[in-house]
Amino acid sequence: MNPNRRSALRAALGFAAAPVVLAQGCTSPRAMEAERLANSPEERRVLEVLSDVDRNQRHLSVPAEDGQLLRVLVESTGAKHVVEIGTSTGYSGLWILLGLMKTGGRLTTHEINSERHGRARANFERAGLAKQATLVLGDAHVEVTRLAGPIDFVFLDADKVGYLDYLNKLRPLLRPGGLIAAHNMVWPAPDSRYLKAVTADPGLETVFVNMQAAGIGITLKKR
Ligand SMILES: C[S@@+](CC[C@H](N)C(=O)[O-])C[C@H]1O[C@@H](n2cnc3c(N)ncnc32)[C@H](O)[C@@H]1O
Repeated sequence: MNPNRRSALRAALGFAAAPVVLAQGCTSPRAMEAERLANSPEERRVLEVLSDVDRNQRHLSVPAEDGQLLRVLVESTGAKHVVEIGTSTGYSGLWILLGLMKTGGRLTTHEINSERHGRARANFERAGLAKQATLVLGDAHVEVTRLAGPIDFVFLDADKVGYLDYLNKLRPLLRPGGLIAAHNMVWPAPDSRYLKAVTADPGLETVFVNMQAAGIGITLKKR
């Protein structure tokens, strides 16, 4: 982890900016987190695939902290149908599927690159989660027009100039109270038209998090 991200994480965890030496015998917060996450053999299997994808198959994948946030949001909101734009090799999708394991929901994820689409499919199969996932190969701007609602949660992580189009096409399918998480609200530079659309609309409420890293916008479709 680079020093900026490490100090941002430390700040988020409530540590002082200066390095803190853990007392002898203490476990680091990161290690404790990993232990806590694996609370069943099924989860362990998914975490092992996540770890492998993280080490060996990253292609513009979200950081682990952002993946954990997706899992927490999906699980805590009880999402039954999640739509992801930008599958890549399936790293963020696996985090989302971890949340969906608990809600009994399903993921529809879109990727334009056939090689990455195939790798994601293999990773979902290895994780035992292929049945919960529909992987769509093609241009998501076209493919999302074939989706049916209601959608509970959307994760945008593909072409940044396309975010406004995805918002306009998916918003009518998103249930009131549903969420849209949009990655890269800091870098690569987000599309100002998307930022304006999610902040200047009284029907939407947006909070920006993890802005010390790539940044995520979390938008609520108000009831
Ligand atoms: C940042 S990566 C996604 C990373 C992934 N969410 C993860 O964390 O593992 C963006 C992906 O979006 C795909 N993409 C770009 N434009 C697309 C489009 N119009 N339709 C579908 N996928 C697209 C790219 O091929 C790329 O694999």
